[in-house]
Amino acid sequence: MTSHQRLANSVAIITGSSSGIGKAIAIEMAREGASVVINFHKTSEGADDALAQIQAFGGKGITVKADVSKEEDVKNLFARTIEAFGRLDILVNNTGRQMDAPFLEMTLEQWDGVISTNLTSQFLCSKEAAHQFVKQAKENPKDEDLSIGKIICMSSVHDMIPWAGHVNYAASKGGVLMFMKSIAQELAPLKIRVNAISPGAIKTPINKEVWGDPEKLPGLLDLIPYKRIGKPEDVAKATIWLASDESDYVTGETLYIDGGMMLYPEFADNG
Ligand code: BGC
Repeated sequence: MTSHQRLANSVAIITGSSSGIGKAIAIEMAREGASVVINFHKTSEGADDALAQIQAFGGKGITVKADVSKEEDVKNLFARTIEAFGRLDILVNNTGRQMDAPFLEMTLEQWDGVISTNLTSQFLCSKEAAHQFVKQAKENPKDEDLSIGKIICMSSVHDMIPWAGHVNYAASKGGVLMFMKSIAQELAPLKIRVNAISPGAIKTPINKEVWGDPEKLPGLLDLIPYKRIGKPEDVAKATIWLASDESDYVTGETLYIDGGMMLYPEFADNG
């Protein structure tokens, strides 16, 4: 491992990292020298594959099963992390899901399912991480005037763009935006940095139904001025910067990684 790795000697938990964006972040962070905790919810194959890829280039990691919307599971996830690596430097609140339905038909189960997976999980994990950061800083003060820990909240362009048929999802991401900013404000004096990443349409299992359907794909591309679907690596690369000391003066910010989806492309030739 070379010395220019931007996350050398760091330990990172990436929730929901057995597929999609989370998996790409875990691999990229390990490439940058972090020891990574790969979290999965139900089946371990995706997490095992991420770990195998990481170990193949000499990186370090473990896999941990946890439903991050459950407090007991979250406590266990953090305990396993400390047991394996002795500390924590970065939390990526990545876990997310969609349970789509027209509003008039949306069940309480679909509402609660998305809010707890996408938003409550971020509350539980961020609280645990902040406690750990403070504890470490007390036991072992850093010499440099740098952040004692970083939290990155995975949001979505739908923290700003309303989304009919997906109100549980859009509401959860709007919640992530204000959750992120409020804890950023509260934790800045403790030197904990909190930021968000808001991806647009990234090619992952969550939206395969759209990009994988030749009839729906053109409609999706119409919403992306940059005219391509994003790759998980597009998001992972930006996450590295936000997690590294290169962004030490950045907190409470959202980075949109969306090929211009937030630029209202429907207005390019209309209005
Ligand atoms: C959703 C995707 C969608 C994208 C752009 C994401 O947050 O999970 O399904 O393609 O936003 O609308």
